[in-house]
Amino acid sequence: MSLPKRVVLVGPMGAGKSTIGRMLAKELGYRFLDSDRIIEERCGANIPWIFDVEGEDGFRERETAMLDELTDEAGIVLATGGGAVMRSENHPLLKKNSVVVYLKTSIEQQVERTRKDRNRPLLQNDDPESVLRNLFEVRDPLYTKLADIVMYTDRKSPRLVVRQLVNRINPRTPRHKRQRRKEGRDYEQGTSRT
Ligand code: S3P
Repeated sequence: MSLPKRVVLVGPMGAGKSTIGRMLAKELGYRFLDSDRIIEERCGANIPWIFDVEGEDGFRERETAMLDELTDEAGIVLATGGGAVMRSENHPLLKKNSVVVYLKTSIEQQVERTRKDRNRPLLQNDDPESVLRNLFEVRDPLYTKLADIVMYTDRKSPRLVVRQLVNRINPRTPRHKRQRRKEGRDYEQGTSRT
């Protein structure tokens, strides 16, 4: 099996999409892109500000436009926001020539990992755990439907998750070949340290 054009990570807030995405990209010799961070860069404002001023609908418009653009890129691992699956028009964008990975995480882990976060407007209230539970009810079937790979992340280090993902995505390529391909890409992108 050859490598897919893109690996798209979906899953709830606190699933570890950015941490795992960054490490996975390195391992595959791909670039890592985070849809939320690029929206913030383009907009010159953070997500709470966008929610405040444009509402969740405004944010979702930006998110769809961003996914449309980023899913034309090849050789990337793309981390998406937890709500990217909420619009059905996003589904073909997420699936197109991609391996979609659902990082599945317990509510307890999501609560723990997002406890101190101030950058997620949907969780800035008295009962973020209930919010996460309600979102899970609605979104888990969508993540599952879209996913080519469902990967549980509870009680696993990011390193272990990445190793298991690499084996699922590209089981036949031995490590030394992946390393050689990665070095080739680093060289082309001028990021080689050797
Ligand atoms: C959201 C998740 C966030 C971000 C926004 C909305 C959601 O991304 O897109 O706050 O609806 O679940 P992360 O999943 O990266 O936290």
